Amino acid sequence: MLASLLVLSLALLVPAHADRYHPERAATVTAAVAATAAMPDEAERSADYWYSEAFAAVDERLSNHIYDDVAKNVVMFLGDGLSVATLAPARTLRGQLAGRTGEEERLAFERFPVTGLAKTYCLDAQIPDSACTATAYLCGVKVNRGTLGVSGAVPRWDCGASTDSATHLESIAAWALADGRSAGIVTSTRITHASPAGAYARSANRGWENDAQVRAAGHDPALCPDIADQLINSYPGNRFKVILGGGRREFRPNTTMDEENDLGRRSDGRDLIEEWLAQRERAGDSHAYAWNRTQLLDAFASPPDYLLGLFEATHLRYEEEVREGNLDEPTLAELTEAAIRVLSKNPRGFFLFVEGGRIDHAHHETRPALALHETLALDDAVARADALLPRASSLLVLTADHSHVMAYNGYSRRGNDILGVSDYRGDDEVPYMTLSYTNGPGYRPHIDGKRADVTSDHTFQALRWRTHADVPLESETHGGEDVAVFARGPAQALFTGLYEQSQLPHLMAHAACLGPAAARRALCSHSAALDASVIAILLSVLAAIYH
Ligand SMILES: *[C@@H]1O[C@H](CO)[C@@H](O)[C@H](O)[C@H]1NC(C)=O
Ligand SMILES: *[C@@H]1O[C@H](CO)[C@@H](O)[C@H](O)[C@H]1NC(C)=O
Ligand SMILES: [Zn+2]
Repeated sequence: MLASLLVLSLALLVPAHADRYHPERAATVTAAVAATAAMPDEAERSADYWYSEAFAAVDERLSNHIYDDVAKNVVMFLGDGLSVATLAPARTLRGQLAGRTGEEERLAFERFPVTGLAKTYCLDAQIPDSACTATAYLCGVKVNRGTLGVSGAVPRWDCGASTDSATHLESIAAWALADGRSAGIVTSTRITHASPAGAYARSANRGWENDAQVRAAGHDPALCPDIADQLINSYPGNRFKVILGGGRREFRPNTTMDEENDLGRRSDGRDLIEEWLAQRERAGDSHAYAWNRTQLLDAFASPPDYLLGLFEATHLRYEEEVREGNLDEPTLAELTEAAIRVLSKNPRGFFLFVEGGRIDHAHHETRPALALHETLALDDAVARADALLPRASSLLVLTADHSHVMAYNGYSRRGNDILGVSDYRGDDEVPYMTLSYTNGPGYRPHIDGKRADVTSDHTFQALRWRTHADVPLESETHGGEDVAVFARGPAQALFTGLYEQSQLPHLMAHAACLGPAAARRALCSHSAALDASVIAILLSVLAAIYH
């Protein structure tokens, strides 16, 4: 007994550096590197600074009236692959680009008063893809990986099963249309890519973006129409007021060169952009088609009723590359503003889906600089919408479809370049990056049993430079942990907690009195102006019968 007490008290006397989990090692940072990093604000050394910071936050929360109102407009922002681990590095980059330490920064969506966490697994997948997750967060149902807008009764690639209308799901965009509101989609990927397709397509395979891909799988496009065809010719896509993104090649015949000299991919000889224009002309709708930024900005002046913009044959370029190359391609913020200006013409309101779709691509390539810049591009779009749409009428929700396997490694000092080398080295004395991946194409074979020193790469820290990864894989994988949800606007409190991703459209629909959720909310039957006129008509009919 005495002996064990002695051991215990001896253990308490052991100095901190003997904690084997947190060794007190000297950082290997050079004086030159340390001199270039921003220093924390001197004010942060006082306790007062952090007390005031906390009290300001309390006041902010107290002033966040929880709107028990009905949302007229809903904008859903989706950061494809925007893992929680991407958030802190992205906000730090934002601050460091402005010459500050960075960690203290807040992104526009990080200012939203309510946050939650969503579980992203799919019906048959522990770690999901962007198709089953899009079906979850737009149609409200968990389904099989790789499928879009059809229930879990449809196995991937089973064209026949997907023709059964009992498997067909409706998206929140369709619920909005059914309520007389407008709907639109914006993305930085091909508009036929999995995430935006969740708003309008029903397909047993996300890869069937054009008819040639349906045929290549041995199916008849008359039975299982491709995703581009569904967008232009099927409900609800054919009623969308705004369609902005990339992917012209899925709409054009394989014999046609498009505006930027890229070949179409369709084998049915159809030009779906021409079909869209013909539809609008037949209906006498004011409309515009744009394939470059100049044309889009021209359309700003007097927004048409219908706007189609396809700015690349495939995905849009990474925004940082558009900026560097001074290309005539719109930013996600500009696309978002154009969409809001068109959709706001409807006094009943709208549902808009905005995707920052290439955060995912940059992560798959193990290129953290691009992933962070794309996150900031999405944040710029959120800031634009936040400025244009008042809180009392408009619900803004931001989330991700799934995570990635990028890690934010220790232990650098405050203000260290977020895209730089860690202050620590490995036990092998080889440097490592603050941001790295557990798998992906950034893997380097060991040399003489030692890890490669990535700091001696020719293109070290260039925008397209790949950081290191542990497991060699052609494409880095998605991750399986939860993703964050941020919300502001009417009924924002619904979005707190940890829940299934498939709840999201139902929560948004509850807030906006749309879809099946509306029947379950008393406020919905009270608030709708339409209902008042229905009652008036019923009363006059009753009066007529009485007479
Ligand atoms: C283009 O489509 C036609 C069918 O219309 C097909 O025969 C041809 O192989 C396709 N060409 C390419 C390059 O895919
Ligand atoms: C943008 O599109 C318009 C209309 O086709 C064209 O006149 C203009 O040259 C294009 N701009 C660029 C930079 O290609
Ligand atoms: Zn992905």
